[in-house]
Amino acid sequence: MSTGDAGCTATTQIHAGYEPQAPYRPVTVPVHQSAAYEFPDYASARRMFALKEPGFTYTRTGNPTVAVLEQRIAALDGGVAALATATGQAAVAVALLALVRGGEHLVASSKLYGGTVDLLTDTFADFGIEVSFADPADTGAWAAAVRPQTRAFLTESIGNPLATLQDLPALAAIAREAGVPLVVDNTLATPVLYRPLEHGADIVVYSATKFLGGHGAALAGAVVDGGRFDFSAYPDKWPQLTRPKRRYGGDTLWERHGHGAYLVLARSKYLHDLGPSLSPFNAAQILQGLETLDIRVARHGQNTREVIGFLAGHPAVAAVHHPSVPGHPQAGLADRDFPDGTGSVFSFDLAAGPEQVGPFIDRLGLFKLVANVGDTRSLVAHPAAMTHCRLTPGQRAAAGIAETTIRLSVGLEAAADLVADLDQALAPLAGAALQAAGAAVVYAGTEA
Ligand SMILES: Cc1ncc(COP(=O)(O)O)c(C=O)c1O
Repeated sequence: MSTGDAGCTATTQIHAGYEPQAPYRPVTVPVHQSAAYEFPDYASARRMFALKEPGFTYTRTGNPTVAVLEQRIAALDGGVAALATATGQAAVAVALLALVRGGEHLVASSKLYGGTVDLLTDTFADFGIEVSFADPADTGAWAAAVRPQTRAFLTESIGNPLATLQDLPALAAIAREAGVPLVVDNTLATPVLYRPLEHGADIVVYSATKFLGGHGAALAGAVVDGGRFDFSAYPDKWPQLTRPKRRYGGDTLWERHGHGAYLVLARSKYLHDLGPSLSPFNAAQILQGLETLDIRVARHGQNTREVIGFLAGHPAVAAVHHPSVPGHPQAGLADRDFPDGTGSVFSFDLAAGPEQVGPFIDRLGLFKLVANVGDTRSLVAHPAAMTHCRLTPGQRAAAGIAETTIRLSVGLEAAADLVADLDQALAPLAGAALQAAGAAVVYAGTEA
């Protein structure tokens, strides 16, 4: 069976990377729950450790169950290869550490998941890696932020928590001009709604904890390499790939692995040395969820349309931050690049004081107060106090997050039940808001 099709087809999400093996031919991917593997002989062990022969040596750097997940995600995105990690956070960290070293520099979107901002502004700062943040809607700001030490651009295809989009091909053109790869976190979109490699990205990262698994039962992450970025065109920028290394027997990774070198470095150095490896059991859980990805994403999208239809005209709602809302500044980008919608994670602002946030959230019943997204269950969070609480007030303002911003991840329940839940939780605010504001509320998003 051919399992290498690049499209996000229902077939790929079920079959890519796996062929049942004799003698039992199990139809689901077996959980190879083993820390290590017996080498066929001493000579093979030597060659495998020298990275001259493929094979599994130790589960920290590779495992047959994890490998199926890697191949499946790579196939869904049209990448040449993928690396699975224990969490999405590890995927972002490993993807960037393989590109940027101490004394070097990154340009990143000002509208990112808060954990990524923590990584960039705190841990990477400790490592001596500098980061400039740029508004994803202002491509000129990205060009202006480039320095001789810049080694990557980072953005989210759909930003968390405001569902922010950007003109990715335009950003990719600036990255090409700067001679650096564009790394895109595609967690909220998934390959069903958007395949960044087809829009100019070079590397894609995921928190597979979210929609790829879909059940909220296991953490996981992935780095997908498009295999297109030519690191050899800038040998001085990436000596880790283009210069002989003692670690690799005096060879250069680029000469040995060509366009596969980036992921070999990520696996053989960063996964090996830091150890954020995905457990085979969690990989199997993500694989199970992945089989229904396109169906789930479609249903999440349907429910989101219903919920947004309700919220967008509600007197207790000041703004709904989702590109499908009429008048949203990125509606045109959504129409051009996201024909199947811009996902089911978005935010809205209450037309009430910040003191109303807690009582509103506590009135919700079906929407669970959870620091996660992409689950079958509908979830609510308060970014200013939760996911984005460590941002400075200035960073939160740049991210468009107010004290009254509420994030929703719309689940797979009956849409009418979700609307009813929001309705009863907003009702006590609606009267007061109507009195204060008078008329119907129109979209007042903060994105440029
Ligand atoms: C866009 C995005 N990227 C990365 C992460 C980190 O993923 P994980 O929680 O699996 O470490 C998250 C988590 O919420 C996220 O929303």
